[in-house]
Formats: sequence, C-alpha cells, structure tokens
Amino acid sequence: MAGTIPRPFIDDLLNRIDIVEIIDARVPLKKKGREYWACCPFHGEKSPSFSVSQNKQFYHCFGCQQHGNAISFLMDYDHMDFVEAIEALAQHIGIDIPYEKNSRQPTPAQQAKNSSESETLMESLQQCSDYYLAQLKQSPQAIDYLKQRGVSGATAKTFGIGFAPSGWNNLSGDEQPLIDAGMLIRNENGKIYDRFRHRIMFPIRDRRGRTIAFGGRIINPQDNPKYLNSPESPIFHKGEEIYGLFELKQANTQISQIFITEGYMDVVALAEHGVTTAVATLGTAINNNQIEKLFRTAKKLVFCFDADAAGRKAAWRALESCLTSLKEGRIARFLFLPEGHDPDTFIKEYGKDHYLQQAKQASTLSEFLFDQLLAQGEVISPEGRAQFLDSLRPYFNQIPLQSLKDQILREVEKRLSIELDTRLLQVIGATAIENTKHTVIPEQHWTPVRLAINLLLQKPALAATAGNLEDLAHADIPGIELLLQILDQIHEQPDISTQNLLARFSGHSSESHLYKIAAMTPAMQNEVDDIQPMFEDALTRLRPKFAKNRFNKLQQKLISGQKLTENEIHEYRQSLRRDKK
Ligand code: UTP
Ligand code: MN
Repeated sequence: MAGTIPRPFIDDLLNRIDIVEIIDARVPLKKKGREYWACCPFHGEKSPSFSVSQNKQFYHCFGCQQHGNAISFLMDYDHMDFVEAIEALAQHIGIDIPYEKNSRQPTPAQQAKNSSESETLMESLQQCSDYYLAQLKQSPQAIDYLKQRGVSGATAKTFGIGFAPSGWNNLSGDEQPLIDAGMLIRNENGKIYDRFRHRIMFPIRDRRGRTIAFGGRIINPQDNPKYLNSPESPIFHKGEEIYGLFELKQANTQISQIFITEGYMDVVALAEHGVTTAVATLGTAINNNQIEKLFRTAKKLVFCFDADAAGRKAAWRALESCLTSLKEGRIARFLFLPEGHDPDTFIKEYGKDHYLQQAKQASTLSEFLFDQLLAQGEVISPEGRAQFLDSLRPYFNQIPLQSLKDQILREVEKRLSIELDTRLLQVIGATAIENTKHTVIPEQHWTPVRLAINLLLQKPALAATAGNLEDLAHADIPGIELLLQILDQIHEQPDISTQNLLARFSGHSSESHLYKIAAMTPAMQNEVDDIQPMFEDALTRLRPKFAKNRFNKLQQKLISGQKLTENEIHEYRQSLRRDKK
C-alpha cells in the first residue's frame, strides 16, 4: 500500500461489485421477497434477521442493528482494515487501485513496509527467530524456566517463543539489517554486540504473522531490566502493534471478546489455559489507534490490567482512549483482579472458568468512570455535585453513542440522587435524556420525513424533483436536518448510487438511524416502479407541519414585542388568510 485511495475509485468499486455475492461467499444467503436473508453472523440467533439488499447494496441486521456496505462487511467479518477490504474487493473484480501518491504522504511505516528494505529487515528477524527457537531446544535452563512458569511446548510453539543464549556475539548474518532492526547494537567504539542476551524471546508479529520485533525476558533474577523490547525501527512502531493479535486471529474465527493485558506472559498464560483471545500492549499505554484495531476484530474489549496502582492507572488511560470509539454495539469492560494478581497468576490459581466468570462481572465503562470520578470528592453538597458534573463533562462529550450517554445520565441521577434538570444537563454539556426506546423506529411508523428519506435512498434521482427545501431547515421537524443533508449530497453528485450515498454518512451521528430507515420497506412491498408520486406526497405532507410551526414562531415574536421583517409580515398574513379558508 502506498498513498491514499481516491474517493471516486471507492465509489466506482462499490458500484461494480455485488454485495450479495461477497456476503454469500461467506454467509450463505436465501432470497425472500426483495431481499436476501441469513442468520446474522454478528450475533447469535436462530431465525434470520440479517438482510442484504441487492438494490441498495447494503446489509442490515434487524436484531443487532449491524449494518454497512461491502467494505464494512469485510472489515467486520474478515477483520480487515479499511485498505485491506478495498484491496480484497479490487482483487475480486480484478482491478488495480490507483493510489494517490502525492495527496497524502504515506506514513514512514507504510512506506517502509513495502520497500525491499523492510523485507530485508523482516527476513533477518525471521532468521533470528529461527535461531532462538533452535537455541531453546538446546537449553535445559530455558526449557526449565518455561516449564516452571507453566508454558507447554505447544503454547511455546504457537507464540514462537525462543531463547537468546548468553554471550555478546551470537547472531550471525548481514550486520546492517540486524542493526537497523535493533538486534545488534553498535557502541561508541564501533564495537557491535547482541542486544538480547540470556533471555526468553517473544517474537512480536505483524498482522500477517511476520516477525517485526522481539520482547525478551530475563531468566536469571539478578539480571535487569526484566523485559527488554526491540527499539522502534522502520518496521516496528510500538504505538501501532499489539502483541498476540496475529496468534489470536489464527486461533479463532468468531471473536466475541478480546482481553487486553499488560504483559507477554499474561497472553501466553491465558492461551495456555484455553483463553486464546488475549493480547497485550507493548509496555506502553494503549492508544486509540490500537483500540480501533481491536474493536474491528471484536465488539467487546475487556481490559484486564494488574491489580496495582500502575494497573489502575493503565485502565484509566485505556478508558480515556476508548471513549471516541464507542460506537453502536461496542462494549468496553474493565476487569480488576484481586490485589497481587495479574491475569497470568490469576488463571493459574483459579482456572479458566473462574477467570471467564470474573470477566463477565467486570465493571462497565460507566461504573468505572463513576467510581473513579466519585473518588475525587464528595457529592453531597451542591458545590460537590457541580464539581463532579464538571469533571464528568470532558469524558461524557467524547462519547458518540447516544444510548451510552443516556445510560451515563441515568447513572448520574442514581448515584447523586438528583434529577437532572436543564441547568444541570448544561453543566455536563448534554441536551436532554433521550429515551433509548425512541431510537428504534416501529416498523409501521412512517413520518413524511422518514418516507422521503427512504424513497430518496431507493432512488437518489428523486432529489431533482424535490424543489428547494432550504426554508425547512429551521423547522422543528424531527429528521429534517438529515433529509436536507441527503438532498445536499445528491445535489452535489446527482448520479450518486444508493450505497455511495450511504457511504457518505459513514461515522455520521445519524448513520445507524439512516440504515434503519433504508432497511425498512414502505407500504409498497409489491414492486412499484414509479415511486415519484409517493415522494411528492411525502414532501407535501411536510409543508403544513412546517407552516403551522412557522406561524407559531411568528406569532410568538409578535407577542414578545419583536419586530417582524417585511417578508415575515407577508408570511404571517398569508398564513392567517390560509387559516380562515
Ligand atoms: P510486568 O512487570 O507486569 O511483567 O510487565 P509480567 O507480564 O507480569 O511479567 P512476568 O510475569 O514477571 O514475566 C508487563 C509488561 O511491561 C513491559 C513488558 O512489555 C511486559 O510484558 N516491561 C516490563 C518492560 O518493557 N520492561 C520491564 O523491565 C518490565
Ligand atoms: Mn506476571
């Protein structure tokens, strides 16, 4: 990969592939009516509520609300990232991707990963890895150490665990790549020596299983530091990699949850006890980039850090880093083990079942958030409460998901024994508690706005007949803003297809709402060729609502003694006249 992929190419790609074919190859679909159906691959169910629309080229699950286009399907189902998904689709129809080299410089990591230089580095790391594996077999001391820590031969093999013997000059081969990859160090005197000596070696692999770095643990308690990691290199960037992710994907197809731990040994020990869905950060705080990567692999992340102050701090930083990623269906939990334990010692002492049981009871994000913030002060006095709400605001406002926000607001009311009035809500920066039930549209509930949106999604070309609706922008009609945004998008690109239109709203706050509307079949289950009259009808039905609204506003203005503009006076008279009729 090099450079960015131009948007028009992505649009074109989406228009050329058939989502039914892409999904059917992975999840067999059955045609029923206009749509294709299957049991949803994203949540367990017995009767199919996962629908794929060939017309609109998207999927939507009526059970778990998962939705999207062919790209997002591959990202979620095959755990690909955005670029990988596009590459897979392009390959599927046999076209090349016209990367835009100059529009945005690829990151150094991307550049290096493709160059032959990075290949050379990886090859030389592979040779190191082979060497360490062979050395492990010959070292009774290293084998004993692993045995004593409960690591079986099979698990050691899965993770490619090896051994770097003592001595300063064991590694052989081309020096330069070994230096560039951090395996050899050149000191001030020009002397070159091995970085890793007398250590158990954990290869760190990229998403394709290629070794890009190592972590090494001492086996002699006198040595230090306890762990030594490869330095940053052209192929290794700590902030981007996650230890154990490759092995996790190898071991599992359906991944419902991922445990995020602090150490290599935690990952290995959990796997040893049959929990093959653990990963670890690489001695640094987990960042949002890594969290996004993990959320694309599983909907539920369980942070499982050590039961000490450092672990709690790491968990808090994890919470901060995951807030913006909490989109629909994603869950973050925080598991705090008893004092003195880490996942490794815990699972050894209590076993897999007990560990999983504990994980089930792990704190929710809002519980952890509240525990932490409430520990900072009292909330009995009005001042204390105000301070608390003030401290909550920055976290609250980063959350994109309304239902989680609502849950937090309800928790505020419960924990502070207060009712959030408008003023208090303002302190947190929230509007009003929205009843989550309202976000689910009852099947039969067709407002003119929803109908108009649904019809536009079926046939974007309808927009040309909509006329100017700009004056509705400030009307107090739910959903009107979304409708206008859709019209804008179509006006910008009149021949846009449904799926490209939907793709424009990816990440938009109304995205899932939009998919929900798109997936609803209006009264016209039977194929109606001409949906134009329905569309016109929907728009006409919008008008009186608006007119009434507008009239009230003008009247209010008059009553409160404000001056009306000439246009407004005209408008007011017009509506009075209409009312008389
Ligand atoms: P811990 O000290 O918690 O180690 O470090 P651990 O995983 O429990 O290891 P064992 O059980 O003693 O073998 C957690 C992680 O922090 C980084 C490593 O990535 C390690 O896996 N670390 C720790 C270092 O980089 N250097 C150190 O000296 C210690
Ligand atoms: Mn440990």
